[in-house]
Amino acid sequence: MAMLEVTDIRTFYGNIEALKGVSLTVEEGEIVTLIGSNGAGKSTTLRSISGLNSPRSGSIRFLGREVARMAPQEIVSLGVSQSPEGRHCFPRMSVRENLDLGAYLRSSDKAGIAEDMDRVFDLFPRLKERERQKAGTMSGGEQQMLAIGRALMARPRLLLLDEPSMGIAPILVDRIYETIAEINRQGMTILLVEQNANYALGVSKRAYVLETGQVALSDQSAALRENPDVQKAYLGT
Ligand SMILES: Nc1ncnc2c1ncn2[C@@H]1O[C@H](COP(=O)(O)OP(=O)(O)OP(=O)(O)O)[C@@H](O)[C@H]1O
Ligand SMILES: [Mg+2]
Repeated sequence: MAMLEVTDIRTFYGNIEALKGVSLTVEEGEIVTLIGSNGAGKSTTLRSISGLNSPRSGSIRFLGREVARMAPQEIVSLGVSQSPEGRHCFPRMSVRENLDLGAYLRSSDKAGIAEDMDRVFDLFPRLKERERQKAGTMSGGEQQMLAIGRALMARPRLLLLDEPSMGIAPILVDRIYETIAEINRQGMTILLVEQNANYALGVSKRAYVLETGQVALSDQSAALRENPDVQKAYLGT
C-alpha cells in the first residue's frame, strides 16, 4: 500500500474545475514531484491533500485512511504538513516563534520541540543565526527555509513542498535542494511541486506532469528528463 493514494479527485473553485480527475501515489521514503505550467493545478493538488481545498469527488487515502473530507488540522495531526507557495511566514514574529508555531499541535511536548528545532537549525544554519530576527525582514530565500523548517516542526510523515525555489537566487536554490535531498535521506517522504522542472526532476525519483487539471504523463524522473516533449515544454532545451 502506498503512503498516499490520490484517486480521481475533482477540485473546484466555485464553478471552475481546477482538478479534473487527478490520480497519483507516493510510496514511503520517496520524493515524488509534480511539474506543470502556471495554472496546471499543482498547488490545488497539494491544497486538496492538506484539506485546504477539499475535492468534490474522488478519494485521498493517507496511511490507509480516507482524508479527503477531513479538516486541515486533522490531516496535520495524522502526519501531513505543507510548506505553502509564497512562504507565508508570520512577518512580525521571530524565526524561533514561527518555528514554534509549526509545532502547535503538540505544544506540550517541550523536549520534542526543542529536539526538532535543533534539527531544523542543523539543516538550515542560516535560521539559527537569525533566530531572533523578525521573519518579515529576512530575504526571500531565508523565508523559504523558514517555511520548510516550520512544516518540519509538525513532525510530519509526509512533507508537501510548494515551489521551494520560487523567487530565489540560484545559489540559494542549490542550497535548498541539497537540504530537501538531505531531509529525504533522513527518512522523510516528500511530495514536491515545482515549475523549475530541472531541479524537481533532479531530486525526485518519480514525477507527474500536470496539464490543465489532469495528469498528462507520469514516469521515473530520470526517464522524463530524457523525454523530448518534456524537454521542450518544461526543461527549456
Ligand atoms: N482561489 C481561487 N479562485 C479561483 N480560481 C482559482 C483559485 N486558485 C486557483 N484557481 C485556478 O485553479 C487553476 C489551478 O491553479 P493552481 O494554483 O493549482 O495552479 P498551479 O499549477 O499551482 O500554478 P502556478 O505554477 O502558477 O502556481 C488555475 O486555473 C487557477 O486560476
Ligand atoms: Mg502553484
